[in-house]
Amino acid sequence: MTSLDEAKIRARYEAAGQGHVFRYFEELSSNEKDVLLQQLHDIQVEKLASLLEAARTDSLSNDHTQTITPFSKHVGRTTDPNVVQSAYSRGIEALSQGQVAALVLAGGQGTRLGFDGPKGCYDIGLPSGKTLFQLLSERLCKLKCLTSDASIPFYIMTSPINHQETVDYFQQHEYFGLSKDDVLFFQQGMLPCLTEDDGKIIMETPSTVAMAPDGNGGIYPSLQQSGMMDDMIQRGIHYLHVFSIDNALTKIADPTFVGYCIQQNADCGNKVVWKVGPHEKVGVIAEKDGTPCVVEYSEISTEMAERVDDQGRLVFGAGNICNHFYTIDFLRDKVMPNLGTLYHIARKKIPYWDESTRQTVTPETNNGIKLESFIFDIFPFAERMAILDTERDEEFSPVKNAPGSDTDSPDTARQHLSQQAQKWVIAAGGTLTGNRDSGICEISPLTSYGGEGLDELVKGKTIECPFNL
Ligand code: UD1
Repeated sequence: MTSLDEAKIRARYEAAGQGHVFRYFEELSSNEKDVLLQQLHDIQVEKLASLLEAARTDSLSNDHTQTITPFSKHVGRTTDPNVVQSAYSRGIEALSQGQVAALVLAGGQGTRLGFDGPKGCYDIGLPSGKTLFQLLSERLCKLKCLTSDASIPFYIMTSPINHQETVDYFQQHEYFGLSKDDVLFFQQGMLPCLTEDDGKIIMETPSTVAMAPDGNGGIYPSLQQSGMMDDMIQRGIHYLHVFSIDNALTKIADPTFVGYCIQQNADCGNKVVWKVGPHEKVGVIAEKDGTPCVVEYSEISTEMAERVDDQGRLVFGAGNICNHFYTIDFLRDKVMPNLGTLYHIARKKIPYWDESTRQTVTPETNNGIKLESFIFDIFPFAERMAILDTERDEEFSPVKNAPGSDTDSPDTARQHLSQQAQKWVIAAGGTLTGNRDSGICEISPLTSYGGEGLDELVKGKTIECPFNL
C-alpha cells in the first residue's frame, strides 16, 4: 500500500478544479489506486491553470506577428567553399580536443509516422535495415576515427514514455560500437493533456492520466535536473550540437557547423536549409523586436511567407531543421538561470477513457491539447547568433509521415540517402552503371561520414547500382 496521503492529494485536485480525476477511484484495485495516486502526486496540478492561461495569451497575442522581421544579420552558406574548408578544419580541431558533444532530441512520439516505439528505433527500410539511431551512432563512430579517437559524448534525451525501451535498444546493440561511457540517457518531463475549452485533465483509463512530453524545450530543465549539464562541464565540453531524431541525413557533431559557429564566436547557432517553396511546413529564422527567433509556419502570414527579395529569394526562407549549436557557457550562464514557463498549445488526438463503452478510445479528430515548450524559445537570449545555410540534399530528409506519403516519409529518406551515396561515389571519381533508380544505394556511415575517404574504394572504378559500400 502506498504511503501517499489520498486525502491531501484529493484536496489539491479539488482546489485546482480537477477533482474529476478521482471519479473512478472507488472502482480501482488497491494496486491501481497506488499507481494513480503516485501519478497525481507527481503532477504540479496547482500550476496547470496558469501555464494554460499563459499559453493561451501567447497564441492570441496580436503583437506576435506584428513584430516579426526578417533575420538581419549575416547568414553563412556552405555553397561557399572557403567557408566550408576553414569551418570544417576548425570543427575537427575542437572535436579532436574533446570539446564537442552531440545531443539527440528523442523524447517525442512518432504518432504521425504510425510507429509505436521510440522513433530512433525505426527502420526506414534501407537494404542494411539500419535504424535512425544506428545511422547516427555509426556516423559518430566514423567521426571519432577522423578525430584521432577523441571522446565525443552522445547525450540522448528520452521521455518516460520511451526511456527504458531506448536504453534497452542501445544495450542490446552494444551501443553500435560506441563506448558505453560516452552514451548518456536522460529524460525530459511530462505534462497532463487537457480539454481545450475548460482545461480539464483528460483520463486515459480510470487509473491513468493522459500525459505527454512537455515539448523539445524540455531539454533545458531536464539537462540541469538530470545532472547532464554538470557532466558536460566535468568532461570539459565547450560546444554542444543538438538535433532532432527524425532527420535521416543528420551529420552528428557536424565539424563544419560547429567550426563555423566557433569561428563566428557565436553563443548559439542554427543550421538551416532554404525553403523549397513559401508553404513548406518548416519554421523559419526571423527576428522579433530585433532578437533572433524561429517562427513556426503556422504563425506566419501568407504575405510574409511569400515575400521575396529583389533576386526572387524568399525573405523568410531560412528553414529551421531543428539543428542547433550552443556554447556550454551560454547554456549555463544565460539559459539555465532564465528558464521561463512559456508553453505553446498543440491540438492533438488524445486517447481518452470512454465511459459508455468502458474502453480507451483514440479519436479521429483533435479532442484536446498538449502544452509544449519549444527548443528555440531561448534564442532571444543569444547575443551572437550564427546561421549556417546548408544544402538540403546533404542535410535534411525528415521522417515524419507514414510510409507511402509523398513527402517527409521513410520512402523519401531512403531515396535521399541513395542519391547522396551515388553523388559521393561520382565526386570520389567513380562511374556508375546500371539503373540508378532500380534500388537503394547505400554507403555505410562506417565507411564514410560525409563523402570523405571513398577514393581508394571507387576512384577510376565502375560501380554497379544498386551498391552497398
Ligand atoms: C520541428 C521544429 C520546426 C522545424 C521542423 C523541421 C520545433 C519546436 N519545431 O518541428 O521549426 O521546421 O522540426 O523538421 O523544434 N521532441 C522531443 N520531445 C518532445 C517533442 C519533440 O524530444 O516533447 C523531439 C522530437 O522527437 C524530434 C524533435 O524534437 O526529434 C522535433 O520535434 P517535432 O515535434 O517532430 O517537431 P516538428 O513539428 O517536426
